[in-house]
Amino acid sequence: CESSAATPAGRLAGTPPPRARWHASHKGSYGDVAVIGGAPGMAGAALLAASAALHAGAGRVFAGLLDGRAALDASQPELMLRDAASLDLAQMTTVMGCGGGTAVRALLPRVLSTAHRLVIDADALNAIAFDPALQVLLESRGRRGQQTVLTPHPLEAARLLDVDTSAVQADRIGAAQRLANRFGSTVVLKGSGTVIAAPGERPSINLTGNARLASAGTGDVLAGMVGAALASGLPSLAAAREAVWLHGHRADRWPADTPLTAGALARGGVH
Ligand code: APR
Ligand code: MG
Repeated sequence: CESSAATPAGRLAGTPPPRARWHASHKGSYGDVAVIGGAPGMAGAALLAASAALHAGAGRVFAGLLDGRAALDASQPELMLRDAASLDLAQMTTVMGCGGGTAVRALLPRVLSTAHRLVIDADALNAIAFDPALQVLLESRGRRGQQTVLTPHPLEAARLLDVDTSAVQADRIGAAQRLANRFGSTVVLKGSGTVIAAPGERPSINLTGNARLASAGTGDVLAGMVGAALASGLPSLAAAREAVWLHGHRADRWPADTPLTAGALARGGVH
């Protein structure tokens, strides 16, 4: 196992993908992200993930909220609200499950089959844990070479592995690696000392971050940040490492006299 206190390789961590002044690019060049989640009463989770993806450099972010009554968030006019069923997931990076409730289950067969690049979090992980047919679809993504990142906290990992949370916590590296191998995916096992594993790769422990991240919604923010990193073109392991590092780095730079909130974390922290 290796530790990653330093910036992940590839580009300067903490910075969105480089944008040269005269580069002939447009907003589509920096990646489209679709966030699917936000069932009634939990729209905030999906909006946090969408905000995080925007502020991490994604070109365009679509919010496919499962709460049909949710209106445009006036504080985030950049977000484009869409019916989840209308999004062309083959052309974008999908972040699935934040605040999704049980409603995400019905969407998962299509998402697992068609999403080009995919981050699976929260209630989408829970749905997969309890449905063998969805597990088969997730396993086949790996065989097709589609980029997938799973972002479980210890209880979500325990459900996927069908063990107790204490067993996951007793061997976090082993648990993350087993999940990665089983599903052919990059796995981010969250918590103090987040473990990042992928099939055939040495697992790593991220060294940024602190207990101030124990605040509702910070996991949703991380899912959006992984989505933006994937949408920028990084392969799943590098995207996961970069986003986890940056998420913790923002928390480490947080002013001591200011409470950490997920909304401010999504927007890049307090400066
Ligand atoms: N040290 C470092 N990082 C931490 C610590 C800690 N002590 N505690 C939490 N974190 C980080 C995790 O590594 C992760 O990145 O904060 C984030 C928390 O993510 P989640 O556990 O997914 O929590 P979140 O989704 O924001 O909110 C909890 O999840 O399971 C649901 O119903 C549950 O509403 C609850 C929600
Ligand atoms: Mg969570």
